[in-house]
Amino acid sequence: MSDPIRVLVTGAAGQIAYSLLYNIAKGDVFGKDQPLVLVLLDITPMLPVLDGVFMELQDCALPLLREVIPTDKEEVAFKDLDAAILVGSMPRKEGMERKDLLKANVKIFKSQGAALDKYAKKTVKVLVVGNPANTNCLIASKSAPSIPKENFSCLTRLDHNRARSQVAIRVGVPADNVKDVIIWGNHSSTQYPDVHHAKVKVQGKEIGAYEAVKDDGWLKGDFISTVQQRGAAVIKARKLSSAMSAAKAISDHMRDIWFGTPEGEFISMGVISDGNAYGIPSDLIYSFPVVIKNKTWNIVDGLAINDFSRGKMDATAKELVEERDTALEFIA
Ligand code: NAI
Repeated sequence: MSDPIRVLVTGAAGQIAYSLLYNIAKGDVFGKDQPLVLVLLDITPMLPVLDGVFMELQDCALPLLREVIPTDKEEVAFKDLDAAILVGSMPRKEGMERKDLLKANVKIFKSQGAALDKYAKKTVKVLVVGNPANTNCLIASKSAPSIPKENFSCLTRLDHNRARSQVAIRVGVPADNVKDVIIWGNHSSTQYPDVHHAKVKVQGKEIGAYEAVKDDGWLKGDFISTVQQRGAAVIKARKLSSAMSAAKAISDHMRDIWFGTPEGEFISMGVISDGNAYGIPSDLIYSFPVVIKNKTWNIVDGLAINDFSRGKMDATAKELVEERDTALEFIA
């Protein structure tokens, strides 16, 4: 067995972490033979809850889990990290303006970015989940100048999995018979779930999603809005936001960073735009189709984009530009 790696989960007393920590600790993310030190960060008032999570992790008696470190201190949490999963953020409270929410989150992700810069390994892989995930990720990256921008990504894998599943259910095949769906842009209701390049395996034969679904109206209408609004639908039904599915998506995302994407398949994640791919402005964390090899992602470039897609890709980029510009006013 190799030496343990140090993995941080923030928001560790919250509901996503409650599913996620078990997935990680039992080896679903970093491998079944990779020992782990799990670091759990939350805010001071949540320390008693965190202590409960700590006890439960001990009680799982998991062979890979070498140490669990619950803390409310950034200098403890970010030290020597190999991977950081930033789930904790400021939730929107009733009557709170979008701008105020952004301001509160800039403060958190600026501080955590600076802590990554100061304490973590330079090779650390950082996944931002806490909303607004794309912009929080950008702020963390900008606040950690000594860590390569490419080490930062944000979660759109839940949207990706939702899109994949919607198509699979419609066609009547298992979810893994559907691949290469794309989530473009922001993890918000302006995201664009796109299946123009998706493939579906039907009776042993791989065909395009449009051919498999045989309902262009649905793919251009209800399919897109269902995926865009799915988070809100879960909140309405559960009175709590997606947690089990979010934890599964985080595990998928980080496992693909660690071990690479399956051969001949791409996934969606929010990564830094350099302005060269698909005409998306630079200096945004934008969700693209990517392949990952040797812990390095590459945007799958050169896919044909029709006018329908173009408009939707630009609209979500516009929202991200506005979000970034507002956030940057608060960063100083
Ligand atoms: P939750 O409210 O159950 O837990 C959040 C935890 O974060 C709380 O324990 C809170 O005390 C903690 N926290 C707040 N500020 C912190 C800080 N500065 N440092 C460390 N911990 C801090 O929320 P839940 O359901 O676990 O969701 C967490 C976040 O993930 C939310 O922002 C949610 O919107 C987002 N989310 C993102 C998804 C995506 O696809 N990108 C999907 C689902 C949720």
